[in-house]
Amino acid sequence: MKLVTAFVTLASFLGATFAADWPFDVTTLSAPDGSITAKFVSLGATMTELWVKDKHGQARDIILGYDDNTQLLTDPAHPVFNPIVGRYANRIKNGTFSIPITKEPQANASNVFHIPTNDHDNQDTLHGGIVGWDRRNWTITSKSRTSVTYRHVDEADEGFPGTVTAFATHTVENGGILKTSIHASATEKTPIMLTQHIYWNLDAFQGSQDILNHNLHVDSSKVVQVDGDAIPTGNFVDVDNTAFDFRTPKKINWDWNETVGLCGAPCQGYDHCWIYDHNEEAKPGVSLWSEISGIKLDVTTTNPAVQVYTAYWLNTPRKLVHGGPSLNYTSFSAVAIEQEGYIDAINTPEWNVNQIYGPGKDYEWSATYKFSVVH
Ligand SMILES: *[C@@H]1O[C@H](CO)[C@@H](O)[C@H](O)[C@H]1NC(C)=O
Ligand SMILES: *[C@@H]1O[C@H](CO)[C@@H](O)[C@H](O)[C@H]1NC(C)=O
Ligand SMILES: *[C@@H]1O[C@H](CO)[C@@H](O)[C@H](O)[C@H]1NC(C)=O
Ligand SMILES: *[C@@H]1O[C@H](CO)[C@@H](O)[C@H](O)[C@H]1NC(C)=O
Ligand SMILES: *[C@@H]1O[C@H](CO)[C@@H](O)[C@H](O)[C@H]1NC(C)=O
Repeated sequence: MKLVTAFVTLASFLGATFAADWPFDVTTLSAPDGSITAKFVSLGATMTELWVKDKHGQARDIILGYDDNTQLLTDPAHPVFNPIVGRYANRIKNGTFSIPITKEPQANASNVFHIPTNDHDNQDTLHGGIVGWDRRNWTITSKSRTSVTYRHVDEADEGFPGTVTAFATHTVENGGILKTSIHASATEKTPIMLTQHIYWNLDAFQGSQDILNHNLHVDSSKVVQVDGDAIPTGNFVDVDNTAFDFRTPKKINWDWNETVGLCGAPCQGYDHCWIYDHNEEAKPGVSLWSEISGIKLDVTTTNPAVQVYTAYWLNTPRKLVHGGPSLNYTSFSAVAIEQEGYIDAINTPEWNVNQIYGPGKDYEWSATYKFSVVH
């Protein structure tokens, strides 16, 4: 009994020590076979480092980030380096929606909600509002050497209806596997659409300074058509004979000249939502690999769509391990690959996509990132 008490006291003491650094407490997960090591902080349940082995057996940190994790909260550029994004990822037209959803919500109706706008000269809401889930302090609810679970309670923050409680679990496994799964429940009817916003550079800036020569496969034949504010028009673009066609893998820059202005002038490259053709979880929706490091990533997910952003707007000092801080992450330093739902489906009722959750209807999200080596 005494021993147990002493142990509990020690644990509380350690807990208090960790709490001093909260929400930037670092949790390190390593697969027993040494194939993968990932680090996380509580703020946003954010992944801060991800080490996997290249074709020479050397580990590289293949995600962007900061050496000083407090920048996740304070960097005015706010590139959103690898957190869980919510309560509603991507954009909401005019920061407005209704429940039930309607095409052009009447500003004064009682079932209409307004979320603070923070994108495109405040014409829409991006990534959950001014302070989204990525800048909230999550709490660790369980932890082992290979898995950590964080909880976030969103009490009608940013003007969304009802309280949402979310649990995000990150796990590493032998054979170079990282899994993230999220379960969320809501006390009232509310839209929920989450993503994990990871910026990849599979060379880790050794042998190449950008992702233009990475090979990309996206199992999708249609892309959400968007207007100049990156808001869906309701239509889809058939990828056939366009720069959006990654059904047969190709280098990211294969059709590069055709991508000038695609993500809104002067932006070059991609920032688009592809709808997956398949709905089998076992089939990779996205694959990404580099011949330089030999590192290959295959992503499987429960999500129907993926946002691929080639990071035109980046300008943030790099981590030391990536050659920083004198060098910056800049345009095309990384590709963000975000497993998600149909973007702004809550303002696009013609799609018949139901993103309203609440009592009796919980939200689930998961993605598995599998690493291997190509020679
Ligand atoms: C946009 O939202 C505001 C409230 O935030 C509302 O007053 C305005 O009418 C809306 N604009 C349009 C075009 O719906
Ligand atoms: C909302 O505004 C519209 C257009 O101005 C008006 O016709 C309608 O009566 C208003 N509804 C309410 C509930 O105030
Ligand atoms: C999260 O923690 C940071 C640092 O301690 C603090 O500045 C911030 O206000 C906290 N945010 C919330 C929403 O509690
Ligand atoms: C792309 O544009 C650049 C600059 O205008 C030009 O030099 C290059 O030849 C073009 N490449 C292709 C494949 O058309
Ligand atoms: C790097 O990024 C920081 C922050 O945006 C900026 O102040 C600095 O000028 C950039 N450095 C270069 C060389 O562009």
